[in-house]
Amino acid sequence: MSPFVSACPAYNFIFGEHSEVKAMKAVVFNKYGGNEVIEVRQMPAPAPNPGDVLIKVHAASVNPVDWKVRQGMARLLTGSRFPKVLGSECAGEIVKTGKEVRIFREGDMVIGFPGIRRLSAFAEYVCVSEDNTFTKPGNISFGEASTIPVAGLTALQSLRNLGRISRNSRVLINGASGGVGTFAVQIAKIFEARVTAVASGPNAPLLKDLGADVIIDYTSEDFTKGDERYDIVFDAVSKRSFSECKGVLAPHGVYVNTLPLPSVLLYQYGIGFLMNKKARSVMVSPNRADMEWMRGNIEAGKIRVIIDRVYPLDRIVEALAYSETGKARGKIVLEVL
Ligand SMILES: NC(=O)c1ccc[n+]([C@@H]2O[C@H](COP(=O)([O-])OP(=O)(O)OC[C@H]3O[C@@H](n4cnc5c(N)ncnc54)[C@H](OP(=O)(O)O)[C@@H]3O)[C@@H](O)[C@H]2O)c1
Repeated sequence: MSPFVSACPAYNFIFGEHSEVKAMKAVVFNKYGGNEVIEVRQMPAPAPNPGDVLIKVHAASVNPVDWKVRQGMARLLTGSRFPKVLGSECAGEIVKTGKEVRIFREGDMVIGFPGIRRLSAFAEYVCVSEDNTFTKPGNISFGEASTIPVAGLTALQSLRNLGRISRNSRVLINGASGGVGTFAVQIAKIFEARVTAVASGPNAPLLKDLGADVIIDYTSEDFTKGDERYDIVFDAVSKRSFSECKGVLAPHGVYVNTLPLPSVLLYQYGIGFLMNKKARSVMVSPNRADMEWMRGNIEAGKIRVIIDRVYPLDRIVEALAYSETGKARGKIVLEVL
């Protein structure tokens, strides 16, 4: 055993002082920046706090927030202590539980959401609080399951909590072919809404397949100039402003986006009560009730997880670069163990 590993209490806690060396592989960065700051290297595995589970990660989901974190765009939340291990959500098997853990046991197949404060999901092992650990749907792969907390719940919470979606709501989803958008189209159909999906032309067949009623190709048609009126405009990719979308909102319509811009927050928490048309920004908040809602609908076959590309952990830089193109069709996944 190397002197570094044997001196590390966390490593010894997991594998035992005398067991074979098994340092874990992780996606590490030592400063904020572009993909050049990323390295995939060995490091000691973490040890669970009393309220944590230790997950052996089988797959992790790549989101735009990962390269935003890498760039330092969320440094108010992620802080300035390095090294950091990237990644905010994953799926795998529990291999150890802290002594205060009540719901889960070793061997449970779960989804873990360390989130952007704690990070560390792009690694062979990660510690996650029990509160942010959720039962994996039985009928999907680890890769598919890993995508639910961020993209899946953003779609659900935007449409249901902020948009107040209901039967026959007229819903427009901009960026419908992306990670959030592909969940949003299916969730809106579960609520029996009438869905208009906006994406570029090649993604039309996917959106039709997901249940969209109307499809608009944004490269040839500007939905903000159309005659249709919508109860909800959900801009999943935050490409169109509230002022651009206001004209196509119904009298009490709601605009929801995924980027907490000051202009939208002003309406949401300030002057919005003075107006009929509302503007809101989502800040996803994974919780057990919503994860169970997703699990129920996935196991019932009402929601499919659309995977665009799968990369091995070693090729994280390619995965992040692909996410940065803004052209992913559904989700990007890392295969870990
Ligand atoms: N606030 C929160 O809590 C929260 C949570 C999750 C995500 N987000 C944010 O939400 C955004 C979307 O996330 P995501 O995972 O869905 O991203 P994504 O998967 O990378 O989105 C890719 C999709 O965006 C579409 N797109 C690109 N330009 C477009 C345009 N001008 N008009 C319409 N569609 C366009 C692309 O469709 P085409 O190929 O057809 O162009 C592509 O399918 C990101 O900024 C992310 O950081 C925020």
